[in-house]
Amino acid sequence: IEKVEKITCVGAGYVGGPTSVMIAHKCPHIRVTVVDMNEEKIQQWNSEKLPIFEPGLEAIVKECRGKNLFFSADVGKSINEADLIFISVNTPTKMYGRGKGMAPDLKYVESVSRTIAANSDSPKIIVEKSTVPVKAAQSIKTILKEAQAHNSSLYFQVLSNPEFLAEGTAMNDLANPDRVLIGGEDTADGHKAVQALVDVYSNWVPTERIITTNTWSSELSKLVANAFLAQRISSINAVSAICEATGADVQEVAHAVGCDTRIGNKFLQASVGFGGSCFQKDVKSLVYLCETYNLQTVANYFHGIIEINDYQRRRFSDTIISEMFNTVSNKKIAIFGFAFKKNTADTRESSAIHVGGHLLEEHAELVVYDPKVPEEVIRHELGLVSSPEKVSKLVTVASDPYEAAKDAHSIVILTEWDEFKTYDYGRIFETMKKPASIFDGRLILDRKTLQTAGFRVFTIGTAKTQSLNLFP
Ligand code: NAD
Ligand code: UDX
Repeated sequence: IEKVEKITCVGAGYVGGPTSVMIAHKCPHIRVTVVDMNEEKIQQWNSEKLPIFEPGLEAIVKECRGKNLFFSADVGKSINEADLIFISVNTPTKMYGRGKGMAPDLKYVESVSRTIAANSDSPKIIVEKSTVPVKAAQSIKTILKEAQAHNSSLYFQVLSNPEFLAEGTAMNDLANPDRVLIGGEDTADGHKAVQALVDVYSNWVPTERIITTNTWSSELSKLVANAFLAQRISSINAVSAICEATGADVQEVAHAVGCDTRIGNKFLQASVGFGGSCFQKDVKSLVYLCETYNLQTVANYFHGIIEINDYQRRRFSDTIISEMFNTVSNKKIAIFGFAFKKNTADTRESSAIHVGGHLLEEHAELVVYDPKVPEEVIRHELGLVSSPEKVSKLVTVASDPYEAAKDAHSIVILTEWDEFKTYDYGRIFETMKKPASIFDGRLILDRKTLQTAGFRVFTIGTAKTQSLNLFP
């Protein structure tokens, strides 16, 4: 295959959906079909209400759907029609058997490989878009080779093309990527397949931003990129603990350190811990990979990223409990934000789940407000770390932040939604139980304004005692 005309993407999730939509938008000459075994999701992609919220997504879907962009539940047929197939299915942390809690579960990737083998009768380029461990392409290839052995008109090349988009900014990340990474086999056929995919991206990505490597470098780079990003957050969160103990201010430290161009100022925002479906899963996958190759010291090094993240969530919950006089039992606490970051409704691995769980252990009454996350999702997620009975007894979901804060003893900020900065905190304070506290886990509110309104304010990475004694 030298020129790609038909693409099928298997997996209509946070990555497969937006990526396919962008390709269809930028390449009107390519017919793009997105398939999924979840028929309801496909129906939603074909409806007015898309299954995911991502700024800018809806407009492009409306522009391309039915022209060169299609959503279908007929996986087999769409596979056979395509010259190039993206595998964009989930690879969650395995929750059973060998590698439980650490290794990625590759059963969906394997199942798609078998579906491709069973439904193809023409040559195809297979592209790993999912994040996978190093050497996953080898397993896919071995499965496809079996099909080739029974049908001489079949031929497959397997490429690695990891995705670097972040949720909430996916459309912009896809339109202007820092780089596109494509790994392939170092053979004449491998180079041809790589070039065919380079030609697709070249429709909108400058050639100097398209990096080609061998397959294993590409697979590994994705895990390493996420480990480095997560490591920066764990580093600044570790520093936030030092700041709280000493009176240094984490934002001042991050600014001073980040001004060194070798370090850079991005991704140094202290927080209640990183969430999202990728960082924890991919760091664990890297740790497991190291262990598989008997690189225990390297594995321990990367595992520290996860340990600090767990520590940060627990540390923040402990601050809330101790500053609320060591008892939150039956006290109303307003939780502002449940998504793992702003501008998404995604709650996977959100720190809000863990902090919520810690507070429920202490029998706190939670009133949760999030601008995008539906009530049933909040209840479901908290039910997994607590129990459904406890959730129905202790958790309320509010549709208005002022309502959420009414009669509460404290407000806990867990997502950095912009609208949280715009509320009338003076008005909120009046309706709360006194003393009223705010715990800012995202460092988005102005401390002085809140203090003037009457709040006790606790922010990650600033001294706990407001009048710190410099000469104890
Ligand atoms: P997701 O859960 O949102 O979507 C995956 C989809 O694949 C689901 O809709 C599921 O029904 C479908 N699926 C699973 N097995 C299938 C099969 N055999 N046939 C047809 N459909 C099948 O997952 P996601 O967030 O889009 O992540 C996909 C991959 O991309 C993961 O490996 C992830 O690590 C990686 N990734 C995710 C992000 C992100 O921000 N979410 C960013 C970069 C990379
Ligand atoms: C991440 C990677 O950024 C992306 O390249 C990869 O493809 C998928 O994983 P995502 O998880 O969607 O993307 O969002 P990201 O912006 O990276 O945020 C992850 C978490 O880290 C969020 O909970 C966020 O609030 C937190 N974070 C981020 C911080 O706590 N501090 C920061 O400085 C940056």
